[in-house]
Amino acid sequence: VGHIDDVQELRKGKPTTIPERFVRDMAERPELSTALSSSPTDIPIVDFSKLVKGSKDEVLQLANACEKWGFFQVINHEIEPSLLESIEKVSKEFFMLPVEEKQKYPMAPGTVQGYGQAFVFSEDQKLDWCNMFALGLEPPFIRNPKLWPTNPAKFSETVDVYSREVRKVCKNLLKYIAMSLGLREDIFEEMFGVAVQAIRMNYYPPCSRPDLVLGLSPHSDGSALTVLQQGKGSSVGLQILKNNRWVPVQPIPTALVINIGDTIEVLTNGKYKSVEHRAVTHKEKDRLSIVTFYAPSYEIEVGPMAELVDESNPCKYRRYNHGDYSRHYVTNKLQGKKTLDFAK
Ligand code: SIN
Ligand code: FE2
Repeated sequence: VGHIDDVQELRKGKPTTIPERFVRDMAERPELSTALSSSPTDIPIVDFSKLVKGSKDEVLQLANACEKWGFFQVINHEIEPSLLESIEKVSKEFFMLPVEEKQKYPMAPGTVQGYGQAFVFSEDQKLDWCNMFALGLEPPFIRNPKLWPTNPAKFSETVDVYSREVRKVCKNLLKYIAMSLGLREDIFEEMFGVAVQAIRMNYYPPCSRPDLVLGLSPHSDGSALTVLQQGKGSSVGLQILKNNRWVPVQPIPTALVINIGDTIEVLTNGKYKSVEHRAVTHKEKDRLSIVTFYAPSYEIEVGPMAELVDESNPCKYRRYNHGDYSRHYVTNKLQGKKTLDFAK
């Protein structure tokens, strides 16, 4: 993606016609009228503090959220609101830098690290109305120090502090998710090895024709768990596909949106499913999301866990190497749940 396709640069000209590369085919266009109508079916809320206190009801609520929705918002999650604000601030400041500055950290094709647009592989592929900045975090060997910005001055330090906190949330949630499946609470932790963790900031400028474009193409996540922070004052943008309908996720201040990734779907033999989601844009408002992906170590073999396979739940997925799946995921365009065909 060159200068010409940088969405923020494009937006500066306040174009009334949207360049062809961003205009979706009819079938893909968001139907804003239905999608943004206030929904009686908000995604479930899980109170982390109740899980910590050992509430069995909250574990049931978590089980229901994972099984019926694949998406939920976590409140009282122990990350300080001031840290949520700091990561948001440095992310926004980064995106507001001159494009030449941001392009000092270019995203290499077929990777999801650096500034640019990931998952673009051909000239005729439609582009998302979004700029991304992504970094590999853990284990240390996936870090590319050349891609860590020195400007804003606090950027890298804030990403590190934030990521350590989010890692704790992921580890804990996986413990409760294991409990919600009736499994030993350490089962994922033991299986995953040194978990892979990456962060991606998505910045969606306003768009004069939100009816024609997508902020982010429909996809499921390749992770085990994803933790998403929606910027304060952001427009509604995230939508999940439920019963064939796009349901908007209403931002709750300081809550984190959690979703089940493909890896948990495979491990649970489809009991907990990764749910297709996308982002739409807004005519006047911009939007920032900060997304953490948490997944097993690359050398781990992933397949349905024996505890969740029996005669009435025959094995639905094959076993594969998680590193191979990750490579498959980042070298294919986002296209609903198609990447999961790899596991079939
Ligand atoms: C994502 O799926 O990675 C982000 C969606 C969003 O911006 O809410
Ligand atoms: Fe996603």
